[in-house]
Amino acid sequence: MINIPKGTKDALPSEIYKWHAIEDTAKAVSDRYGFREIRTPVFEHTELFSRGVGDTTDVVTKEMYTFLDKGGRSVTLRPEGTAGVARAFIENGLAGGAMPFKVYYLISAFRYERPQAGRLREFHQFGAELYGAEGPSADAEAIAFADRFLREVGVGKAVRLHINSIGCPICRAEYQTALKEFFRPHLDEMCPDCRSRFDKNPMRMLDCKEEGCKKFTSHAPRMLDYLCEDCRTHFEGVKALLTRAGISFEVDPSIVRGLDYYSRTVFEFTSDALGAQSTVLGGGRYDTLLSQLGAKPTPAVGFAAGIERLILLLDALAVPVQEKHVDCYLLGMDPSSREKAFLLAEELRSGGLSCETDLMDRSVKAQFKYADKLGARFVAVLGEQELQEGCAEVKDMQNSTSERVRFDGLAQYIKGRN
Ligand code: HAM
Repeated sequence: MINIPKGTKDALPSEIYKWHAIEDTAKAVSDRYGFREIRTPVFEHTELFSRGVGDTTDVVTKEMYTFLDKGGRSVTLRPEGTAGVARAFIENGLAGGAMPFKVYYLISAFRYERPQAGRLREFHQFGAELYGAEGPSADAEAIAFADRFLREVGVGKAVRLHINSIGCPICRAEYQTALKEFFRPHLDEMCPDCRSRFDKNPMRMLDCKEEGCKKFTSHAPRMLDYLCEDCRTHFEGVKALLTRAGISFEVDPSIVRGLDYYSRTVFEFTSDALGAQSTVLGGGRYDTLLSQLGAKPTPAVGFAAGIERLILLLDALAVPVQEKHVDCYLLGMDPSSREKAFLLAEELRSGGLSCETDLMDRSVKAQFKYADKLGARFVAVLGEQELQEGCAEVKDMQNSTSERVRFDGLAQYIKGRN
């Protein structure tokens, strides 16, 4: 027996309706905000992520699925969606089209992390990216979009929005110096990762999960106190728009995000119902990524939500999710009724209804049992007499009543009661 690889999961037919509900909501809300779908490859040249996501991040240094293909090229299974979208935007010359450029994606992503509840090695994201707009309204639209998506999925009441600004490369340089001064006397007591982050990117130290380091990071200087005038005005603008739109948030200076490309606004939606992996959606502005990848400077903002975490949250909150059921099971009691049931099922399907009929020569009792398992709304029973009369005995499985319905009126009958 070959087992599923560690950190991966099957999405089984019995629970796929939750995936569909989330994906349908993602598409419908994207549509309302004017975001169109983009699909990019599952793997990219490794350099895209090391340059884009940042080579001091855990994602790039520890978690990437990187391998040489048969042509000797280093390729990587995408650990996230933003870098691939940026590459596609540049490579396809999309800056020449309508701006702002707005896209969404539903993807699988891969990170070699230690698996636990809500943390997988293959996981799925719904993400959105908006390019070309640098003002606070773009940040506010991305956040409002994320907020509406979560509310329409049904988890709105259980999530909290945290926002922060991590400034621009100019004000961040001054902050990094302050951070280094703060951490320098404690370096000996901090973990080896933090000691190397100290030289390469001290802000990463704020994200350290080691208890020994957290006792220092919790007292570290805050980026918010170092924002330059432009970054401060921008952040004030985002907060004002969110407030006016009735979107509640808290400013949380501890949010730095785990990827290097961010600047200015960063945000996360978290839920206490999720345990340790409490972030269900994260995003922010990233004004330098596109130029870093070779495009002309293009401001950008976006977010991604983890689908598996959303499903965990739906389950934890016992949110009712509409499951699709079979409209009608056509039950033939003898061989000629079975044939008629087959043909009637085809007719009803042409009329847009979902139907099933017996494919396994089952007894009447076994067919009823199967129809029940399918959650069929109606069971249309056909026997010798019904065939002669041109009618079916239609049982309403919700209230156990039944009625004689002519074959040619069956579709109408079911549609009228569904
Ligand atoms: P991220 O915070 O790394 O951001 O991931 C976004 C979401 O994906 C997380 O909040 C979480 O729900 C889910 N997620 C991440 N890693 C895992 C995992 N190992 N297992 C299960 N779920 C996971 C990004 O990926 C950015 N690209 C978001 C973005 C888009 N920023 C701007 N545009």
